[in-house]
Amino acid sequence: KPSHVVLSPNLTTCHPSFSDDNKPVYCCPPKRESEEPFIDFQFPDPSTQSIRVRRPAHVMDKDKVFAAKYNKAIAIMKSLPYDDPRSFRRQADIHCIFCTGAYNQQHSNSLMKIHRSWMFFPWHRMMIYFHERILGSLVGDDTFALPFWNWDSPEGMHVPDMFLNGSFVDTERDSSHLPPQVVDVNFDEQERGLGYEEQKAYNVGFMYTQMISAAKKPELFMGCPYKAGGDGYCNSPGTVEDAPHNTLHYWMGSNLNPERENMGAFYSAARDPIFYSHHSNIDRLWEVWRELRSSNNVPEDSDWLETHFFFHNEKSQLVRVKIRDVLDVTKLRYTFDWVENPWINARP
Ligand code: C2O
Repeated sequence: KPSHVVLSPNLTTCHPSFSDDNKPVYCCPPKRESEEPFIDFQFPDPSTQSIRVRRPAHVMDKDKVFAAKYNKAIAIMKSLPYDDPRSFRRQADIHCIFCTGAYNQQHSNSLMKIHRSWMFFPWHRMMIYFHERILGSLVGDDTFALPFWNWDSPEGMHVPDMFLNGSFVDTERDSSHLPPQVVDVNFDEQERGLGYEEQKAYNVGFMYTQMISAAKKPELFMGCPYKAGGDGYCNSPGTVEDAPHNTLHYWMGSNLNPERENMGAFYSAARDPIFYSHHSNIDRLWEVWRELRSSNNVPEDSDWLETHFFFHNEKSQLVRVKIRDVLDVTKLRYTFDWVENPWINARP
């Protein structure tokens, strides 16, 4: 393959695809995105866009004004027709498209998938960036920031209360995992059966492993290098993608559904509003890991940096965005509220 060939989706190819358990699914947009003009991503203008501060969801639970505003934004998003790319279901289906491989790659007939490789962190950053901006525009607040589900910190180790109300409700959750149940960041189908304090201590120790001791090299944290072409898919997730990311998806989804939908299956995961706070925390942990390393903390490979995807923005325009566009959150005009990371010193 010529060296300029980078991974990207071929927007003319959306087709039926399969869930992780090989159930047929269909999540393509109603109109081919290849028929829409696209614009290249532009950073928000710092002279007009203030910094959006993402805060812990368990703290924002107490801020009734915020919780009501976010709830209303989701309600509006859910009321938009499926034709509207800003609608909640279309937002969810973008995730379905890229987790099930509904697009082929631009320069090969291989499927384009973004999990289990170094595409994981940047693709999800893009997805929730656009989602956050759309929510803000629906309620006329450009300071709106997605809360993060701070499940790596003892105070945040339960489903945040806000997700139990109004438009945040998803009936397809494991009801035994609703509050006050403590999360198991390494859930593997079996209940671990620990008391709340023991489970919290287990979680903190596990975070140390995934963020520090098992993540000493970029490829271990980021996942394997996935390149364009037929044999490019590498299928080896980074530490945090594997757990707590995958494990909490599974922990949250309903035990009564075959693939623990919604959160437990990637094709349906983003139908649960808690998905976006889960990923807001994943996005934060990527930043924390980079700060802990300070150098050699981002792949310098142009195949990765030039890889691009397409998302709709708050004006429903199709935007082409490259991985290199999303590596500096200050330029994207958001940040994370400072929180203690109790696992940093939790060496067993
Ligand atoms: Cu694309 Cu949390 O999964």
